[in-house]
Amino acid sequence: MIKVNAPYIGEEEIEAVSQVLRDGYLAYGPKAREFEERFAEYLNVKYVKTLSNGTVALYALLKALGIGPGDEVIVPDFSFIATASAVALTGGRPVFADIDLDTYTLSLEEIENKVSRRTKALIVVHLYGHPADMDPIMRLAEENGLLVIEDCAQSHGATYKGVKVGGIGTGSAFSFYATKNLTMGEGGAVATNSEEVANYVELLRNHGQERRYWHISLGWNFRITNIQGAIGLSQLGKLDRMNERRREIAKIYNELLESVDNHLKTPIEKPWAKHVYHQYTIWVNDESLRDELSRYLSMRGIQTGIHYPHPLHEQPALRGFAVKGACCPNAFNASKHVLSLPMHPGLSDEDVIHVAENVIRFFKDARL
Ligand SMILES: Cc1ncc(COP(=O)(O)O)c(C=O)c1O
Repeated sequence: MIKVNAPYIGEEEIEAVSQVLRDGYLAYGPKAREFEERFAEYLNVKYVKTLSNGTVALYALLKALGIGPGDEVIVPDFSFIATASAVALTGGRPVFADIDLDTYTLSLEEIENKVSRRTKALIVVHLYGHPADMDPIMRLAEENGLLVIEDCAQSHGATYKGVKVGGIGTGSAFSFYATKNLTMGEGGAVATNSEEVANYVELLRNHGQERRYWHISLGWNFRITNIQGAIGLSQLGKLDRMNERRREIAKIYNELLESVDNHLKTPIEKPWAKHVYHQYTIWVNDESLRDELSRYLSMRGIQTGIHYPHPLHEQPALRGFAVKGACCPNAFNASKHVLSLPMHPGLSDEDVIHVAENVIRFFKDARL
């Protein structure tokens, strides 16, 4: 089976974990701290605070920025649920906005449409590893006094006009889930240049503890372990190489799938963007063929994914926040047309060619 996504683990992670186990320092400790320092350098931001996962990172960042009951936060209607549920869990209101279909990221016009006097912030998701067009978004946010949060769960190492995403907005949240471009198995982080935000997140993740057994605010245990820190450090050391391999794979797909460009669209990379292909997601023109293609590939040992099969406003858990009337036609259409093909650094050229050939054969066999 050629998996759609998979972690890329080598001897270096195994050795790093063994070392932590041998040392016996298992909870949050020196490896986790070192990861924070190195990742902050990598992103060119002042502070990185690791947290248990990306959902908690979004939540902690929103809380640090003062989001709570009565506040509206604009979110793309097309993302993983955590982008919106983190807002709802603070007591704030996620306001769904449509996406731009070139990049699958938040549409500028839609932000303008959705701003109200209650809007405090917006969350930009660099979906699939392609950055959103940040300059106009930052300008619009400034004009309207909005905070900008970057959801970088899928975009470790992606750049916008040469600048790494995660250091452009007011603060950003990363996920280090098993299949992310950088993994710790589970894990997350807030990155920010604000000392105030970093201090708030530090307290929230560690029971509001200012010094040992002295707690100045209520908090949680959102810490990672030293084992996660060690895995993260090994992964960070090879992140750029892993992203380069993802880009090579995308290039092979793009070239081969050109022969069926009447049936599908391959991902776009804007001139100002460096795409890191967390997913390689195609748009199948005929929506009635999307699931058929997925089954066809599955029968031939090729796994695919649908990221995501429902726009967020349709999720039962979030329906209370949906506005009546037509919301977000692009997000709705994307949920019917997108299909993610296998994409991870462990794929060989032969694997990628094999997948592309099967996609091509599907359209030829379908005699369309
Ligand atoms: C866009 C996006 N935001 C947030 C998250 C949440 O991250 P985690 O699964 O680490 O909680 C994910 C993870 O899948 C994601 O893809």
